[in-house]
Amino acid sequence: MPIVFGKAPGKIILFGEHAVVYGQPAIAIPVTNVNATARIIPNLDAEPGHVRIEAVDIQLNADLDTLSDDHPLAAAVWLTLHEIAPNHTPSFTLQISSSIPMSAGMGSGAAISVAIIRALSAFLGKPLPDSKVSELAFKVEKIHHGTPSGIDNSVVTYQKPVYFKRDEPIQMLKINHPTHWLIADTGEKTPTRETVSAVRALHAEDAETYGAIFRKIGDRTEKARQALIAGDLTTLGLLMDENQHLLEDLRVSSESLETLIQTARNAGAAGAKLSGSGRGGNMIALASPEKIRQIETALLEAGAVKVITTVLREDKP
Ligand code: MEV
Repeated sequence: MPIVFGKAPGKIILFGEHAVVYGQPAIAIPVTNVNATARIIPNLDAEPGHVRIEAVDIQLNADLDTLSDDHPLAAAVWLTLHEIAPNHTPSFTLQISSSIPMSAGMGSGAAISVAIIRALSAFLGKPLPDSKVSELAFKVEKIHHGTPSGIDNSVVTYQKPVYFKRDEPIQMLKINHPTHWLIADTGEKTPTRETVSAVRALHAEDAETYGAIFRKIGDRTEKARQALIAGDLTTLGLLMDENQHLLEDLRVSSESLETLIQTARNAGAAGAKLSGSGRGGNMIALASPEKIRQIETALLEAGAVKVITTVLREDKP
């Protein structure tokens, strides 16, 4: 039996985080220069069905049956095994590694689930189609943070820019003009579960005020979709700034995020905002290609622990 790999990229949300949980649209793109990888190595010496999980990044080295069923790595394995229902499960070791920053709004949890589901279903001889991979990863996301919208598992599975609305078929965005993005990590980590439930508490207290903020974010996202397709940097930048202010109203921004956002704007970005769940994690900035280096330097000088640059390329005709 050969060693089998599964892979998935990171992601950033350009517009619409948090509001997307409440039915508003969001736009997200894959970030392919960071990845999660799952590697399955058959273990011919162990008894059938013996599964070992090794995840160096979180210092985990354990037998599957010693992990609780709702452990996210175990859940991805169990869901795949139930889906494939093999006549017999060969013994194997699952090795997981990831270069996607954790708890930083880059979809690392979803990417790890997708990598596991891909590797394991291929190892069992029945590689699952993307729609099923995304569906199973969504089930794991629900364990991670209760009420996920489904955008993270969708974008990392399909590896395409997406316009996403909860409970609606996912739409891939056709890109005609490349755009250049910087992603800067504050180094602070807040689990998505925490920020999503903080926003839920605000909405439960005052549905009118927070519902109106979600709708305004949805409106900016709709406009951003047109601007992204048209490659209109000025409008996109303004919409990012507006989206950031609305996220501040949702109280998911933070001092470190705002320092980096202001730094990027001062250094020539067309717009900047937090990306993902907030309260630390990453911010993103949009810039013309000739300004990317100067903004990167400014972000690092202002305390970013890491800056990644990525290009959203136009679709090939
Ligand atoms: C997290 O990447 C994005 C959130 O909108 C949560 C979600 O959509 O599930 C904060």
